[in-house]
Amino acid sequence: MKQSVSEAFAALRSGRDAALAQPLSAAFDADPQRFANFHATLDDLLYDYSKQRVFADTMTHLLALAAWADVEAKRDAMFAGAVVNPTERRAALHTALRDLDGAPVMVEGRDVAPEIAAERARMLEFAADVREGRIRGALGQPFTDVVNIGIGGSDLGPAMATRALSPFGQPQLRSHFVSNVDGADLYDTLRGLDATRTLFIVSSKTFTTQETMTNARSARAWLAAAVGEAAVGDHFAAVSTNIEKVREFGIDGDAVFGFWDWVGGRYSVWSSIGLPLAIAIGPSHFEDFLRGGHEVDAHFCAAPARQNIPMLMGLLSVWNRNVLGYATQAVIPYDQRLGRFPAYLQQLQMESNGKGVEIDGSAVTEATGPVVWGEPGTNGQHAFFQLLHQGTEIAPVDFLVAARPTNADKAHHELLVANCLAQGEALMRGRTADEAKAMLIAQGVVEAEAARLAPHKRFSGGRPSSTLLYRELTPRMLGRLIALYEHKVFVEAAIWDINPFDQWGVELGKELASRLAPVVSDPAASTEKLDCSTAGLVAEYRKLSA
Ligand code: F6P
Repeated sequence: MKQSVSEAFAALRSGRDAALAQPLSAAFDADPQRFANFHATLDDLLYDYSKQRVFADTMTHLLALAAWADVEAKRDAMFAGAVVNPTERRAALHTALRDLDGAPVMVEGRDVAPEIAAERARMLEFAADVREGRIRGALGQPFTDVVNIGIGGSDLGPAMATRALSPFGQPQLRSHFVSNVDGADLYDTLRGLDATRTLFIVSSKTFTTQETMTNARSARAWLAAAVGEAAVGDHFAAVSTNIEKVREFGIDGDAVFGFWDWVGGRYSVWSSIGLPLAIAIGPSHFEDFLRGGHEVDAHFCAAPARQNIPMLMGLLSVWNRNVLGYATQAVIPYDQRLGRFPAYLQQLQMESNGKGVEIDGSAVTEATGPVVWGEPGTNGQHAFFQLLHQGTEIAPVDFLVAARPTNADKAHHELLVANCLAQGEALMRGRTADEAKAMLIAQGVVEAEAARLAPHKRFSGGRPSSTLLYRELTPRMLGRLIALYEHKVFVEAAIWDINPFDQWGVELGKELASRLAPVVSDPAASTEKLDCSTAGLVAEYRKLSA
């Protein structure tokens, strides 16, 4: 890490004690302008960070940190197609996929914008043809079920978005997502499906991923058993950067869609990997989804840092992680259809920024990505919110909520919003033991009993949260939300000077699984070279599975 950045961190840390000394509720009481000063908007989307433990000087120091870390220059380099992923020698140009104006995108001296537009047009045409029954199964039946087979970025984006945008789907066309190599995933999905009306999409950037290829082979066998080998071609589409491997698998022709190695898996929902989503919501909604992402790109590139939402999100995350020392980050959408959003963000944030070395290979000097977790509210309130309010671990929370429901009851929605706002307020304000005691006495509890219960009913308050409030969860808004978090992750990585676009940490486990697969499947295979724990587990597995 550059000396100047370390110094900026030191300046930031000098404000830590003062930031923690003042109760957050007192900051609100003292400053009626706190909300006005600590929120930013992008027309119908508002980011309120006034309930974070920050003050005017914190923001000054954070913005100085961003300047010293060259966040804006690094951002510009990413958008310009520079090799920002040096360990894989690649650009990261997912932003180009959502620019419907087709502005030139130079990769190794070549404008790839026309290729992007052409592949998108092909993919959207196929999506429309499946959706409207022009492309049919081998026996002439329109498809009623689309099964995406993929994992990680080839699953989470389309699965999350398809669920989030279910009101824009067609009821007669169901979407399914199979990811786990656990055969139960495929079995449970296929049970009850009619093979003559089922379309499979095999989605894999590399087309070598063990889980996906295993599931794809089993799905193909299921289909061939029901409709015959000759029908397979009419029931399989594929999305990959590795067209040769797709052909080897036996999928060919018009139902094969490509993308490029400069699109990271977890950033690929904007590419042909979005095919299941495009089938579900239709081409024009898919384009709105892209537009939403592009609007955030424009905002990220142009808005001054103090009003730049992804910049603020990233800086506040650094403040919480590195200065206040919070190791986790909760994401709580008050939006049932965003049920998979926390899982999607887990890959986006933890695979991107769960790194231990800086870009130059030296060990990081600051803690990097927090553990990201969450579930929709209000359900979470009845599960883990106890810990958020009174536990010894503090987890900053991002709340997400729409002002308008989509195909849902208004009265329900008003309660949902009230709950969301109440949780942020409760985390911020808390309740002193004296207040708790006075409340109990007012309820008729005798003094001694009130004194006994008061410590249990005390809330420390000062627990940080931000709220993203948006008009409605439309395709465009979902595109915005995803892009905001993508760029938030980018800002964090720029400050920590890590590469957010590689994922070497997933390799060792994959290697060892391949080495162990024959040992697990062959009871006679030697376990001599294994450590005694793994060998012991294999021995017991052999006994129990016999
Ligand atoms: O294991 C991690 C990973 O490489 C992710 O980054 C990626 O999204 C996922 O596997 C799936 O990879 P593929 O799309 O190549 O099958």
